[in-house]
Amino acid sequence: MISSRFSLLRGFPGLGLRPAARFYYAGAADGASGSPPVRTVDLRSDTVTKPGPRMRGAMAEAEVGDDVFGEDPTVNELQRLAAGIFGMESALFVPSGTMSNLIAVMVHCRQRGDEMIVGDLSHLHIYEQGGSAQLAGVHSTTVTTLLNGAFDLDQVEAKIRRGYPDPHYPRSRLVCVENTHNIQGGRVLPLSFLQELRTLVDRYDLQLHMDGARVMNAAVALGVPPSTILQHCHTVSVCLSKGLGAPVGSILAGPREFTQQALRARKALGGGLRQAGILAAAGKVALSELLGRLQEDHQNARDFAQALLQCNPPIYQLDLDAVETNILRFRVCEPGVSPVELCRRAAQVCEEEERTLGQGVRVLMFPHVGGSVRAVWHLGVSEEDTRLAALKMQFVAQRLTRERHKGH
Ligand SMILES: Cc1ncc(COP(=O)(O)O)c(C=O)c1O
Repeated sequence: MISSRFSLLRGFPGLGLRPAARFYYAGAADGASGSPPVRTVDLRSDTVTKPGPRMRGAMAEAEVGDDVFGEDPTVNELQRLAAGIFGMESALFVPSGTMSNLIAVMVHCRQRGDEMIVGDLSHLHIYEQGGSAQLAGVHSTTVTTLLNGAFDLDQVEAKIRRGYPDPHYPRSRLVCVENTHNIQGGRVLPLSFLQELRTLVDRYDLQLHMDGARVMNAAVALGVPPSTILQHCHTVSVCLSKGLGAPVGSILAGPREFTQQALRARKALGGGLRQAGILAAAGKVALSELLGRLQEDHQNARDFAQALLQCNPPIYQLDLDAVETNILRFRVCEPGVSPVELCRRAAQVCEEEERTLGQGVRVLMFPHVGGSVRAVWHLGVSEEDTRLAALKMQFVAQRLTRERHKGH
């Protein structure tokens, strides 16, 4: 029997809402006056977080200067703080994760005809518009992304070019990994994989970059400091604007010589910001105060996953062992109901639901790769929101099957 902190079998007790955490502007209960409140539980992405009063206060009070001149004290503090946490020599504040990855590719692959090896399901390869080809002139070759986000090392080795300087071939320079892995559902790369990959990369004198947009989630899931993960990488990009709740920004970290080159590339891409301390102040709060709560997101994701498995009728399918962090992927197995339709139903509120649950709950999720649905937890989603969302999914399951039986 699967146990969950809010087992569906316990019915629908106390739908009262917990006060929002001070880090987040909840404001998610809407509905016209007189009608029952509608609760919105936004599980589309951990990028939807909004800075709360504590973070906004830090932003308002930040000491600033011209960061292109290197004179913004708050940016400089954030960069020192981040380098320390990640166990890297140096760190650079960058406007976005996409720019951060692109800069890493540009710095590691300096010559036209340089090549990088990336996972076929990596964010870098799928969702960054081919910027490494489009803007950096770098050729990519892909390896198969395994279910846990790792690669087969023999396949990686087979992809490394041996022909240079034969003019037929590009020159292998870089291997990129993603941790946690977004498309594979927040999977954490095993430390043993990273260690073996680094040995391979060193043997061929390549560089290893980690798209660690959510590497803090990986560290929390493994119960290790991020530096234990990152010791295996030459460079890393970490997003402050996802589960850590900052409105903007990523950190690109690595050896000092690397970040010096990265600073030049950032300027060329238009990412040199002036009084960026206002944004860096949010990043400082994210890194120094919000790491501790990531475990809550992981627990909520797991509780929701367990609740989906308990739904009756059992129309949701997922691998509970694969729910390691704040991202959940699941399938709907109800004839004629696509992921798009399920997401539409989950986001819709009807009168019957308000009668049954005592209030309406809009659960926002995205249809995802391979016919799945993705749900992501973050500091805007409480344990209570998660429980309400699970009740809504149970309601949707019952309604969908009832409609099918009526239709027959
Ligand atoms: C794994 C991963 N890498 C990079 C990015 C890009 O970050 P940004 O949206 O800040 O450009 C994302 C964004 O969702 C991501 O999930």
